[in-house]
Amino acid sequence: MSDQTTTQSGDSAASPILQARDVHKTYRLGRVDVPVLKGASLTVYRGEWIAILGASGSGKSTLLHLMGDLDQPDTAKGTIHFDGNDLTQLTQSRRNRYRNNSIGFVFQFYHLLPELNVTENTILPSLVGLSRFAYYRQRAELRGQAASLLQAFGLDHRLTHRPRELSGGERQRVAIARALINRPQVLLADEPTGNLDEQTGGEILDLLARQHQAGLTIVMVTHDPDIAKRADRIVRLHHGQVQEDINRI
Ligand SMILES: Nc1ncnc2c1ncn2[C@@H]1O[C@H](COP(=O)(O)OP(=O)(O)OP(=O)(O)O)[C@@H](O)[C@H]1O
Ligand SMILES: [Mg+2]
Repeated sequence: MSDQTTTQSGDSAASPILQARDVHKTYRLGRVDVPVLKGASLTVYRGEWIAILGASGSGKSTLLHLMGDLDQPDTAKGTIHFDGNDLTQLTQSRRNRYRNNSIGFVFQFYHLLPELNVTENTILPSLVGLSRFAYYRQRAELRGQAASLLQAFGLDHRLTHRPRELSGGERQRVAIARALINRPQVLLADEPTGNLDEQTGGEILDLLARQHQAGLTIVMVTHDPDIAKRADRIVRLHHGQVQEDINRI
């Protein structure tokens, strides 16, 4: 990825930021190869909110994990580019920076650490690579940043609570705050409302819409056409490939 500083909203509208190119992914179950992605390509443009729609088992999470560098395509079978750079060609430290700073990831089941409180969960990504000395020097500032983000998400009365003391919607708001604490350019959200009732899920989508309006690029996976409609653009994952530009479903 390039070292130029980019703001969430300062880039031209139609330039690609994240691209999957002809990606293949095969899982091996015992002796059986299970091909899941079979030449999937997807271009995500700066500032857009894109929904990846598909049936259960179609490979949505797999594709999102590859785009977030949480997993890799089959060897020599496709690439993921961020900001024009092939992730596999980056040094390990730049790949770590990509995962920790350039993107944020939100999961269906929140994945908060139960022994940490809301503020501590939120600042966790900003501690990666920080020395103990730097942490003590910056701790008040980091906690302040987390507090203002959590306040904007309506969680100012929950800062010292543990995840088990929160509702599902509150947990997901903490998870989104954690994903955004390092000001990523792209948020990758895997069924972010999949575990929530309709109203609470709607509130999470409203929160994402506000972030999107502020310039955040969002890639959201869902199996629900109504949720997908909240995005600017809908693509469908089918037979291991991405069918582009399905705006009406
Ligand atoms: N680590 C793994 N090992 C083996 N098979 C896997 C693995 N991860 C996923 N699969 C298989 O790959 C296929 C696609 O899984 P994936 O989780 O990407 O689908 P999905 O579209 O996200 O489904 P859902 O809507 O249920 O979340 C499924 O058949 C799944 O069983
Ligand atoms: Mg999934």
